[in-house]
Amino acid sequence: MQIPVNLEKDSYNVIIERGALAKAEEIFNLDRKVLVVTDSGVPAEYAAKIAGKAREAVLVVLPEGEQTKTLESFGNLCQKLLDEGFTRKDCVVAVGGGVVGDLAGFAAACYMRGIDFYNVPTTLLAQVDSSVGGKTAVDLGSVKNIVGAFHQPKAVLIDPDVLKTLSPRQFACGAAEIIKMAMTFDKAQFEKIQREGVAADLDYHIARAVAIKAGVVEQDEKESGPRKALNFGHTLGHGIESVTGMLHGECVALGMLPMCTLDLRPTLAEMLRKEGLPTECRADSAAVTAAAMHDKKAEAGSVVTVRVNKTGSFEFVKADAEDMRKLYEECFW
Ligand SMILES: NC(=O)c1ccc[n+]([C@@H]2O[C@H](COP(=O)([O-])OP(=O)(O)OC[C@H]3O[C@@H](n4cnc5c(N)ncnc54)[C@H](O)[C@@H]3O)[C@@H](O)[C@H]2O)c1
Repeated sequence: MQIPVNLEKDSYNVIIERGALAKAEEIFNLDRKVLVVTDSGVPAEYAAKIAGKAREAVLVVLPEGEQTKTLESFGNLCQKLLDEGFTRKDCVVAVGGGVVGDLAGFAAACYMRGIDFYNVPTTLLAQVDSSVGGKTAVDLGSVKNIVGAFHQPKAVLIDPDVLKTLSPRQFACGAAEIIKMAMTFDKAQFEKIQREGVAADLDYHIARAVAIKAGVVEQDEKESGPRKALNFGHTLGHGIESVTGMLHGECVALGMLPMCTLDLRPTLAEMLRKEGLPTECRADSAAVTAAAMHDKKAEAGSVVTVRVNKTGSFEFVKADAEDMRKLYEECFW
C-alpha cells in the first residue's frame, strides 16, 4: 500500500508492505553514498539490509535511548558525513525508532543545508507517527525536541514485519498513538479497536494512522493550526514524562484521560488497559503541571489543549496552569 503525502515540491510516498525491507532499493534511490543510521537496540539485520543495497554504505550505530538525541550526536553525524565525503547528491537513511529518525533527519536537514533523507521506522510509534510529517529534532538538557527543523523525507518505508522483535512495552506505546489518532479523527477505527484491540488488524491501524497524519500534515505542515490536534494527550503527557521518566507512549496514554469528557474516560481507560498501557498516575500534580507548562508549546502562561467530547472529533481549548492542575487532579487523585 502506498499513502501519498502531498506537499507540493516536498511530496513523498509512505509505503506500507510486509517484506518491503528486502527490496528497499526499489523504493529509495540507493545508487549513491548512503549514511545508514541505526541504534544498538534495533536488530542489526534491518540496517544491514539497507546497507547491502547501497552503492556505497557508511553505517553508524548509536547507543539506544532518548539520551542519544543530543546536539553532540548530531554533531558527530555531521562530522561523519563530512569525513566520508558526502555531497548534496548523497543521502541519509534512518533505520530505527523515533530517536534515530529525529536525529538522522535533523543531520540530513542541516548537512550542506539539506540532503535527501529516507526513513525506515522500526517501532510502532515511529511507523504510525514520528516518521511522517518532517519534524526532526534533538533535545537540549531536559527539554525535548527544542532544536530542530522541518525536513520532509523523500520516502518512508514501513515494513510491519520488523515489529516482531519489538518488546510488548514498546508496542503498547505505538498503540497509544494509534488510539490518539482514532479518538480524535476516526470514530469507526476507535470502535474497531474497542471491539478487537490494535494487534488483531495491525496493518489496517498502521495505514489508518498514517493516512490521518498525512492528511493533517498536508493541511498544516508547520503546525500553525490543525496539526496541533496531534498533540492530544501530549501536554500533560510531557509533564508526566519529565517527572516520572516513563516511556513517551505510556505518558501520552495517561495524558489523554483528563482531556476527554467524564463519560468517555471509562471506555478509553478500558481500551488502554487492554493494550497494556497505564491508566493511573500518582505523580505530584504541581510538578507535572509545572513541567507541562514549561513545554515549548506554552505561550504566555497558557497552552492550547486538545479536548475530546465525542470520539472521532476534537476541539482546542486554552488552559493555564491552574486549569491543568485541576484536570490532572480530578482524573488521577
Ligand atoms: N518527529 C515526530 O513527529 C515525533 C513524533 C512522536 C515522537 N517523536 C520522538 O520519537 C522518540 C520516541 O520514539 P520511539 O518510541 O520509537 O523510541 P526509540 O527510538 O527510543 O525506540 C524504542 C526502543 O526500541 C528499540 N527498537 C527499535 N526498533 C526495534 C525493533 N524493530 N525491534 C526491537 N527493538 C527495537 C530501540 O533500540 C529503542 O531501544 C522520542 O524522541 C520522541 O520525541 C517524534
